[in-house]
Amino acid sequence: MEQIREVEEKALEAVRNAEDLAALQQVRVMYLGKKGSIQGLMSMMKSLPKEEKPAFGQAVNQCKQTVSDAIEARNAELQKEALAKQLEEEKIDITLAGDKLEVGTTHPLIMVQQQLEDLFIGMGYTVAEGPEVEQDYYNFELANIPKDHPARDMQDTFYIDPNTLLRTHTTAMQMRELEKAKGRTPIKLICPGKVYRRDDDDATHSHQFMQCEGLVVGEKITLADLKGTLTAMANRMFGEGRKVRFRPSFFPFTEPSVEVDVSCPFCNGKGCSVCKGSGWIEILGAGMVHPHVLEMNGFDSEKCSGFAFGVGLERVAMLKYGIDDIRNFYTNDLRFLKNFDRFD
Ligand code: PHE
Repeated sequence: MEQIREVEEKALEAVRNAEDLAALQQVRVMYLGKKGSIQGLMSMMKSLPKEEKPAFGQAVNQCKQTVSDAIEARNAELQKEALAKQLEEEKIDITLAGDKLEVGTTHPLIMVQQQLEDLFIGMGYTVAEGPEVEQDYYNFELANIPKDHPARDMQDTFYIDPNTLLRTHTTAMQMRELEKAKGRTPIKLICPGKVYRRDDDDATHSHQFMQCEGLVVGEKITLADLKGTLTAMANRMFGEGRKVRFRPSFFPFTEPSVEVDVSCPFCNGKGCSVCKGSGWIEILGAGMVHPHVLEMNGFDSEKCSGFAFGVGLERVAMLKYGIDDIRNFYTNDLRFLKNFDRFD
């Protein structure tokens, strides 16, 4: 009995002193294993007189239970400690500065294009597309600008061969759509896209720029419809309360043709440095589709009429966002491009 108590005491001390799970496992083997001390006590039983065996057996079992309970308790304790240590070591400091993920922003010209698309889709228009490398036929001929017509000088053109060019205006897409419609009305579409002209680049000119054309053809379409539509557009692009005014102009594909001004959004028409004191800002060209253009494209100009307008997206973006040099749109300077994500 004395020996049992000794083994138990030693075992419990060893359990208490086990510093980690591996050490505890060693203690377990040492005392509870097949060749362990407690098993050694069991084997002493054979040599005891019969009447002492039950009490001895019970005492050894009791000892085994006590040691095993102590090992379990220490095991739980050590596991908890190990976990706490792991958590401590693997702690993430969320206040540390992270690696910044660079997120791109929408290009200001694409923003303006999307705003226009949004507005016109909302009014039932579709968005048409067409090629940038265009045939002379769509860019000029169908738009009522035959070869040697002086109006060709209005748009100095990049020719690829005598019949192929970089489109000089989105009107080329308008002509494609008119031809495609084969005389059927109504037509209600916008065609945004890049256009090219042999201009020397400076603060207000770029050999590549963007336009958005609008085209409506149907019965009883009038200049008043054009004015209402452009007023809606001016309000969307430059804020509520804009007025538009028409000044007579000339385009070969529209008759009458107008130059369209918007009341200055910066001074509300009172006159400021942006509108050079006039209260108005010239913004786009427009007009009623020329009857000859309708006829060339298979429409009956007695039965239907249409309006068209073409707006320069750079001009709109420059006014809207106060940009003073058109070249900013094309030089890909991130310091410039990143400015626009917070604007509408
Ligand atoms: N195509 C003309 C230009 O580029 C703009 C315009 C479009 C004018 C449609 C009238 C109607 O200057």
